[in-house]
Amino acid sequence: MILPSILSTSHLRLKEKLEPLRGLAEVIHVDIEDGVFVPNLSFGPKIIEEIYNEFGFGMDIHYMVKDPQRFFDLFNAIPHKMVSYHIETGIDPDELDFPKGAEIGLAFNPDTKEVDPNVLSKLDFVVVMGVYPGFGGASFEESTYDSVIMFNTLRADNGYDFDIMVDGGVGKDNILRLKNCGADHFVAGSGVFRDDPRKSFLELNNISDGNV
Ligand code: DX5
Ligand code: ZN
Repeated sequence: MILPSILSTSHLRLKEKLEPLRGLAEVIHVDIEDGVFVPNLSFGPKIIEEIYNEFGFGMDIHYMVKDPQRFFDLFNAIPHKMVSYHIETGIDPDELDFPKGAEIGLAFNPDTKEVDPNVLSKLDFVVVMGVYPGFGGASFEESTYDSVIMFNTLRADNGYDFDIMVDGGVGKDNILRLKNCGADHFVAGSGVFRDDPRKSFLELNNISDGNV
């Protein structure tokens, strides 16, 4: 699945930017930033709720925050299809009350290489960051391929069935290789919104399906 990420597109023109994806993208990716875990700020609950009400997209909300519980509570009026927060917070999934009905994911920064296999048993998906978190359009880390392979191996060795999502720096040039390393889902911000969003979305979808 391709999940368009709205972080780096024009916030003033969000409706117009999302219109071409209406009825096409099943799930969109929303980055929440707290100015602490990452240096920047992004969206509050009001704009995200308005997007949901307007388009009805499934919402994959990626909390790049130090205190995930506080932010889950702030955004709890929004139905979450998927939710993720960062392992670097040091918080175990068992310590959190997640939004109801959401698939639960844990995100790993490019330089986080130590993974406790036990924590993986609690997850529906892992988010392998293809960039250092904080901004759209950051440069893709080549070590991402090895990280995806590592999670794919851990999944097979332990009989887990979490999905592997890659977030950041995904585009036409690397998506098939990431898929071949074991990734299932791809978050793409600039890769979708830089040019024609509908065309780019369909193209990424085709390439990741091995059709191009
Ligand atoms: C990075 C965010 C990503 C980002 C992806 O901090 O978590 O979701 O918006 O944007 P691109 O695809 O432009 O790297
Ligand atoms: Zn993200």
